[in-house]
Parts: sequence; structure tokens; C-alpha cells
Amino acid sequence: MESNLNKVALITGGSRGIGASIVRRLAEDGITVAFTYANSSNSSEELVNEIQNSGGRAYAIQANAENVNTTKEAVGKTIEKFGRINILINNAGIFESKMYDEFTMEEFDRMVAVNVRSVFEGVQAAAPHMSEGDRIITIGSVNANVTGFPGLSLYAMSKAAVAGMTRGLARDLASKGITVNNIQPGPVDTDMNPVDGSNAKLLKEFIALGRYGKATEIADLVAFLSSEQSGYITGASIDINGGFMI
Ligand SMILES: NC(=O)c1ccc[n+]([C@@H]2O[C@H](COP(=O)([O-])OP(=O)(O)OC[C@H]3O[C@@H](n4cnc5c(N)ncnc54)[C@H](OP(=O)(O)O)[C@@H]3O)[C@@H](O)[C@H]2O)c1
Repeated sequence: MESNLNKVALITGGSRGIGASIVRRLAEDGITVAFTYANSSNSSEELVNEIQNSGGRAYAIQANAENVNTTKEAVGKTIEKFGRINILINNAGIFESKMYDEFTMEEFDRMVAVNVRSVFEGVQAAAPHMSEGDRIITIGSVNANVTGFPGLSLYAMSKAAVAGMTRGLARDLASKGITVNNIQPGPVDTDMNPVDGSNAKLLKEFIALGRYGKATEIADLVAFLSSEQSGYITGASIDINGGFMI
């Protein structure tokens, strides 16, 4: 594997929350970072400036994953800009909670499009440009395996889907020496799941450590799985959840 200084990563959904922490962490490691966002153009621009001012290389790409081919195009733009792609982090995701009979089929399709289809699209576009030692990492969720209360049918389905997809892709890409892994966070304090939100008190009771995770803690695990040291880990879904409902 080459030095970080020659590596290029694309992080989907890098404008806020866990994705922005991953962008910062990989940039700190000397990796060139491209990232996508759907709407947050101002915070994306600020993040690019922050990284460039610290001597790193960064590039923000508007790419709404609800639309077919936008994630594929983002991979193309990353390669056009930086000449290569070594690490793909599938982080962009949406969360919606409702009883099963309240969801519309449009909402079903949107959940699948952003949380599942765009992941597959990104891998299909990036993997042909990747080689031995390169990495694909998806941000799944504890809800792939555990749902503590009603309303999570579609979100849980989408995160179980990426766990299964990870196992399949790990087999498909093993011959190229590319590892494929899935990180399953518990509650992490972001706009999606604020530590002072309406569900927070209940969620904290499910967590052995009694606190929410920090986006930087997820980014640290991403950095390890992106590194040379993680070379014997593939097809894994790794929990990082403070002991959620153990
Ligand atoms: N927070 C948690 O407790 C938690 C727990 C387990 C798993 N996760 C997973 O971790 C990932 C990141 O979550 P987060 O908490 O950081 O969420 P967040 O704070 O809501 O941030 C979501 C990020 O994804 C981007 N995004 C959303 N919809 C998009 C779309 N259609 N196309 C492209 N980008 C889109 C957003 O871009 P804009 O800023 O432009 O909207 C933003 O950068 C998700 O996959 C989520 O399911 C989160």
C-alpha cells in the first residue's frame, strides 16, 4: 500500500455530522479528500477551506443520492480532479421513523435510493479504478440488528441490506485485494440524532456506557479501516455503539 500522501478518498455525505468528521480525520492523515453533499453548499465550502488552510487537498461535489447516477458521477468527478480513487466511504444516509402503515411507496423508494442503491452505484463506479490495498467502507447502523422501539422498519431494512451487500462485495472484490467493510454505529450526536432530541433519554438507557457516541469516534474507526493495518479485515460489520442493548 502506498503512503497516505498519494491516496484519494471519496466520502459521500461529507458536509455535516459523521461524514464531516470522516473528511477531517482522513485529511489529518494526509489523504486527499473529495466529498458529496445534497444541499449544504455553505458548510461544504467552509470544510474545503478549512482543510486547504491546514495544507490538505479537498473537493466538494453536489450530488443528491436520491437521483440515479449522481453517486457514479461523483466518483467520476473525483477521478477527474485528483487522478485516482483509493478509498470509498459510503456515509450519506437518511433516517425516517413511522409506523409501517404510514410510509408511502415514495418514501420506501427514497430510503432504498439513498441508503442502499447509491452505495452499490458508488462501488460499481469506483472499484474498477481501485487496486490491491484499496478500501470500501459503508456506514450502516446498529439498527441492522436491533430495533428498540416501533417505527424503524424501513431504516432497519436499509441498514441490514448494506450489511449483506458488504459480505457479497467482499467476496467479489477479494481477488483485486480490495477490502469491503461496514461500520454499525449506535446513537451518535449529529443533526440526524441530536443528543438533546426527543428520543435521546430512551436511547441512552439502551447504551451500556450511558452516553451518545461522538462523530469523531466513528471517524477514528474509519481511519483504522482505511489504513494498511486493517488489511486482514473484510466482509465485516463492526459495531461501535457503547454497548447498545448488550
Ligand atoms: N447519527 C446517528 O445516530 C447514526 C447512527 C447510526 C448510523 N448512522 C448513519 O451514519 C451516516 C451519517 O449520519 P449522520 O448522523 O452524520 O447524518 P446527518 O447529520 O443527517 O448528515 C447526513 C449527511 O448525508 C448527506 N445526505 C443526506 N441525504 C443525502 C442525499 N440524498 N444525497 C447526498 N447526500 C445526502 C447530508 O448532506 P446535506 O448536508 O447536503 O444534507 C449530510 O452530509 C448515515 O448513513 C446514518 O444512517 C447515524
